[in-house]
Amino acid sequence: MGTRAEMAEGQVLRIGIVGMGGAAVNMLPAFKRSPQFRIAAAADLDTDILARFSSDFPGTATFRSVEAMAACADIDLIYIATPSVLHAEHARLALEGGKHVLIEKPMAVTLDEADAMIAAADANGVLLGVNVKHSFEPRVLKIREFVRSGELGKLRMLHSWRYVDWLYRPRTAEELTPGWGSGILWRQGPHQLDIVRTICGGMLRSIRGSCQTFDPARRVTGAYTGFLEFDDDIVASVVCSGYDHFDSQSLVYGFDGGAPSGDPTRHARARRELASHAGEPGWEAEAAASERYGGGRDSGAPAGEPKSVQASGVAAPGGGWLSSGPLIASFERADVRLTRAGLVVDADDRQWKIEFPRGWDGRDGRLASFYHAIANGAPMPADGRWGKATQEALVALQQSSDNHREVALKCQVQTVDVGSYGPGEAGFGR
Ligand SMILES: NC(=O)c1ccc[n+]([C@@H]2O[C@H](COP(=O)([O-])OP(=O)(O)OC[C@H]3O[C@@H](n4cnc5c(N)ncnc54)[C@H](O)[C@@H]3O)[C@@H](O)[C@H]2O)c1
Repeated sequence: MGTRAEMAEGQVLRIGIVGMGGAAVNMLPAFKRSPQFRIAAAADLDTDILARFSSDFPGTATFRSVEAMAACADIDLIYIATPSVLHAEHARLALEGGKHVLIEKPMAVTLDEADAMIAAADANGVLLGVNVKHSFEPRVLKIREFVRSGELGKLRMLHSWRYVDWLYRPRTAEELTPGWGSGILWRQGPHQLDIVRTICGGMLRSIRGSCQTFDPARRVTGAYTGFLEFDDDIVASVVCSGYDHFDSQSLVYGFDGGAPSGDPTRHARARRELASHAGEPGWEAEAAASERYGGGRDSGAPAGEPKSVQASGVAAPGGGWLSSGPLIASFERADVRLTRAGLVVDADDRQWKIEFPRGWDGRDGRLASFYHAIANGAPMPADGRWGKATQEALVALQQSSDNHREVALKCQVQTVDVGSYGPGEAGFGR
């Protein structure tokens, strides 16, 4: 097992993947290109998926359960991408088996579950990391660096908007069942709130929020708004709607800059596709299942277009997620905003662009930082305690909405800065 004391320098860690759904499909390219990890095994309940995996990855093992994978001596780290309601139990089994765990977001459904996962990692001397991959995006880390360096003055406010089609793309029963870590708050909020916490330093003091359901046919939260106050008097707001009306990519690309939403034939495409199958009760579950490994349907692109390729045909760094809505950080001497491939800084006396090398995104940053923590004892960003703090923010936003009150937070932890924007050893742990 690859604990730090036992690892030879440069040792490659063997990954077992549990749950070969859309999340795992999305992570596979990063696992494949990482020199620090090797895909060793997959586990799923679906034997067709396992057969496809075996044929695509000769020499790997397959399992029907997490227990069986956790008992295998040839695996160092288990990546858990099963439905959110199963995360706590699956993480416990893997951690008690002495494996490091990379858990999908949200790390759990309740704060008690998050505590149990953290305790299990500590008790077994292994590391627990949360796959908040967009928080490791070069654009996010660069804004964070401006906060730390102070070169643009103090960060005063941060605003993030996302208007997307999430609620009308094919969703699983889990995603549409209230109380199961479902709805857009629990599925997209973990990324958006995590990015904001990462940039603002982590120490969220309070939230006032509102969760909304506009469409009675899809009963979960489909939109939310939050006002956040951090230590050091930084304020932030998050807005997210999954109702497939406006597409906020246009606010990142520029209205005439080739955003997919600029094409009227693409407007509300997910809604139209769902409506066109209204008389077919099994269609949505089948379409959602076909986004799993080898199922043939791309999870982010209803019209069969790979999601990381934008209308211009240019792949954005980190895929499209971060580019799907504007994020503006206001410092005392500049506003910094996202573009498709980088950042624009509008400062007191000049304006400049920052671009990043392609071929490296938040997934790579998440994996590399996890490896350095295991192999070299580097500080671990987005560990279990950090994941719990983001989960506390989700719970608080929901509570604030239910009670129409501001909610104070108690379990917050500071951002662990990794400071890397590219594939070199550009300063992990610096
Ligand atoms: N990080 C991201 O960008 C991202 C993207 C999508 C989903 N997610 C998260 O990943 C998780 C999974 O989401 P998804 O959309 O891939 O779900 P999904 O339902 O499409 O896939 C889940 C997979 O887990 C398998 N599974 C279910 N129970 C199992 C068990 N007991 N043992 C082994 N395998 C089992 C299913 O057969 C299926 O293949 C969720 O927590 C979600 O929030 C993260």
